[in-house]
Amino acid sequence: MIGNSNHLLGLDGLTRDDITRVLNAAAGMKEISARKIKKVPTLRGKTIVNLFFEPSTRTRTSFEIAAKRLSADAVNFSASASSTSKGETLVDTARNIEAMAPDVVIIRHKFSGSPYMLADRLDCSIVNAGDGSHQHPSQGLLDIFTARERKGDLTGLKVVIAGDITHSRVARSDIYGFTAMGANVHVTGPPTMIPVGIEAMGATVQPSFEAAIEGADIIIMLRIQLERKSGMLIPSLREYARFFGLNAERLAIANKDVLVMHPGPINRGIEISSEIADGPYSVILDQVENGVAVRMAILYLLSGGIDEMVD
Ligand code: CP
Repeated sequence: MIGNSNHLLGLDGLTRDDITRVLNAAAGMKEISARKIKKVPTLRGKTIVNLFFEPSTRTRTSFEIAAKRLSADAVNFSASASSTSKGETLVDTARNIEAMAPDVVIIRHKFSGSPYMLADRLDCSIVNAGDGSHQHPSQGLLDIFTARERKGDLTGLKVVIAGDITHSRVARSDIYGFTAMGANVHVTGPPTMIPVGIEAMGATVQPSFEAAIEGADIIIMLRIQLERKSGMLIPSLREYARFFGLNAERLAIANKDVLVMHPGPINRGIEISSEIADGPYSVILDQVENGVAVRMAILYLLSGGIDEMVD
């Protein structure tokens, strides 16, 4: 269970204690990944299905590695090579997968809400690996894990999320998650990329990028999502980079021990310069490393793992 659910659909509704329980489990899992033999029998006999209808490098691979490190059987479903290309619906596809008795189905889909639809119809656990522009809860948890690892208690820290908030499922999960952990979350970006009413989720809107990153403890840069037509919301990529790209000059406004995050994939020279992405403040590859541990924890908790490991 995560919170009071046997699914992980979003971070809204999870308390600080719920999230801390996942992070503590992930800390134990990270230790397994540091061993010479990176495998334990914890989920032997369990079957995990990766049902990805959108491209992914980090999320899909790390869920697969996470399952295998816990000795579960991991199956990858490729939408382009499946019967969805013959017109089968998402629900029919999922019900047919369910007939093969998986324990956890991990879904990424372009339609917001699709994991909720499956959670209503299927008996197994569902994990949302990104639904449209809605949420990406495992990314939110690995971001919080990475922040906690470096900063300790997140209470009162200034977390800035910058860029295309409108299209970002990562932004929504991060706002809910970091707010639950006691951080002060600020969002910034071009006005066309800040959704109306985002304050209701707990974020403070700051139109000026410079004002937002002043005194920031953590800056999370978002990708310009050209596949979701982000380009229609700004005059040009060049102009976007000029006003909202993170470079060394702007980073100097933040706190001296600031952490720079990005969920990936990055557009070098657009939302972030290479100097920053590869520089000393960047924890982008730590996020990827921690993604395996956090996803091991998610699979473990949803597959009925014993509580002694996490309390
Ligand atoms: N952060 C993230 O979701 O990356 P992928 O699209 O590569 O999974």
